[in-house]
Amino acid sequence: MNETIFQLENIHYGYVDGGKKRVILNGLSYDFEKGRFYTILGPSGSGKSTLLAIASALDQPEKGCIKFQGEDIKKLGYTKFRRNKVAIVFQKYNLMDYLTGVENVETDMMISDKKAPGNRKELAYKILATVGIVKSKADRIVTNLSGGEQQRVAVARALAKDVDLILADEPTGALDTETEKEIISLFKTLAYEYGKTIIIATHSDDVARQSDTVLRLKDGKLVPVEK
Ligand SMILES: Nc1ncnc2c1ncn2[C@@H]1O[C@H](COP(=O)(O)OP(=O)(O)OP(=O)(O)O)[C@@H](O)[C@H]1O
Ligand SMILES: [Mg+2]
Repeated sequence: MNETIFQLENIHYGYVDGGKKRVILNGLSYDFEKGRFYTILGPSGSGKSTLLAIASALDQPEKGCIKFQGEDIKKLGYTKFRRNKVAIVFQKYNLMDYLTGVENVETDMMISDKKAPGNRKELAYKILATVGIVKSKADRIVTNLSGGEQQRVAVARALAKDVDLILADEPTGALDTETEKEIISLFKTLAYEYGKTIIIATHSDDVARQSDTVLRLKDGKLVPVEK
């Protein structure tokens, strides 16, 4: 019953730097399963952020193919894929500073083509409550929340999109150990109770230890790490 939901096939990507080409992803392939929690480890500069940018269609590979539920995302349309199929969480929360928590979450409901049923604001409060942000905090301008709380709002935004694939680039990089634990347990809930596929790039061995599959980005390829 291990359903493949997201596939990277023979991905090649590089940057031209000082007139010289530097290969970052070199024939990278991997199949990700539904409802599974993955972490990607790798030293600084190995290409984790580059890989996540390509996986979320913020950038396109030079060669290779990305499939969501068996369909090439190029055929599906990159914008459509980004809007409706994938959500991204970044290290620095990526919130709209001048809005409240609940307004940030509502924005994502408006972006998605899948219109949320019923009262949008009500649903936004509900989603925020599931990540531990009560109404009084949800009504605050987000810069007046702690780092951990802002990251919860960022996770709530990903939830508001109601997509099956969540990518995160060092989502706990700016948080203390205790808050890191809480955010990771939130991601686990999303995987195991909501069936979402979670892929997190991280420097933290603690985070990696808690995931179902640890992958190492090495020489432009993803290599599974034996636990
Ligand atoms: N726009 C760019 N132009 C040229 N080189 C780039 C560009 N973006 C990234 N790079 C280089 O590509 C390599 C991979 O960068 P990337 O940000 O993907 O690494 P990373 O694994 O996410 O690192 P970190 O752990 O520090 O976040 C680095 O050497 C980086 O300097
Ligand atoms: Mg990075």
